[in-house]
Amino acid sequence: MTPHSPSNSSLSSAIITGSGGGIGRAIALRLAKEGYAIIVADRAEEGARETVRQIIAEGHQARAVVLDITNPQQTQALIDGAENLKVLVNNAGIFNTRDFDRLTADDFRQMYEINLVAMFTLCQQAARILPEGGRIINLASRAAFGARHYAHYVASKAGVAGFTKALCLELAAKQIIVNAIAPGVIMTDMLKERSDGMEELRAQQPSGKLGEPEHIAHAAAFFASPLAEFVSGQVLIVDGGRSVGGTAAF
Ligand SMILES: NC(=O)c1ccc[n+]([C@@H]2O[C@H](COP(=O)([O-])OP(=O)(O)OC[C@H]3O[C@@H](n4cnc5c(N)ncnc54)[C@H](O)[C@@H]3O)[C@@H](O)[C@H]2O)c1
Repeated sequence: MTPHSPSNSSLSSAIITGSGGGIGRAIALRLAKEGYAIIVADRAEEGARETVRQIIAEGHQARAVVLDITNPQQTQALIDGAENLKVLVNNAGIFNTRDFDRLTADDFRQMYEINLVAMFTLCQQAARILPEGGRIINLASRAAFGARHYAHYVASKAGVAGFTKALCLELAAKQIIVNAIAPGVIMTDMLKERSDGMEELRAQQPSGKLGEPEHIAHAAAFFASPLAEFVSGQVLIVDGGRSVGGTAAF
């Protein structure tokens, strides 16, 4: 599934935010295999450089941009420096738990600022240069449909799901395709922020298995590929079936 290359024969590029580790790194490695030049955008410099190292070691193209996605000047510079941009994956995000009676407005604002507002800004900046057939892929969460102990995260990810649907319509006339992925519990550093133990999480899975970052990368590869040219505004739950049949006991 090689992406269409522009006439100067250089590769199309893909920006993946938060790809200095976890799900973002798996998506970056996967889209590199699909033929994209990867721009690894993360505030964690060491992680970003490690992702670039792994991609280059596999014979593909990548470079790192160290930035904070909540800084609009830095995100504009990221977009301005992205030659032949075809795909934007808004993956960077934060998670923490707060019981409802301890949750503060500042907790809410911080979660929104990173998980939602920064995503909006990047989408607006990228949409000005994405070509026909360009792709935006946003990371929502299964939690968008309800979970206890982190209402601010749930609300931010429900916002991502709704924003993705709105953006699909806003950008349809420009032939830009916008989708979201809603992962279930995936084994990354983010799990360290959860108070429930690994065994408890595993027991809640119908298959008894937690997700791997590569499971999410498969979905991203589909949304970035020509196979998804008539699929837009969708939120694909990738959670091993946990959300089906009332088994989601978050
Ligand atoms: N792991 C899960 O179980 C899970 C489940 C559902 C959704 N998600 C979503 O998937 C995405 C990736 O999650 P993950 O598990 O790989 O998390 P992670 O914590 O392993 O990685 C997140 C990355 O985002 C970067 N980041 C955070 N804030 C940033 C900022 N302001 N500027 C630049 N970079 C920033 C971090 O440095 C980190 O490299 C997130 O949006 C998350 O909400 C994860």
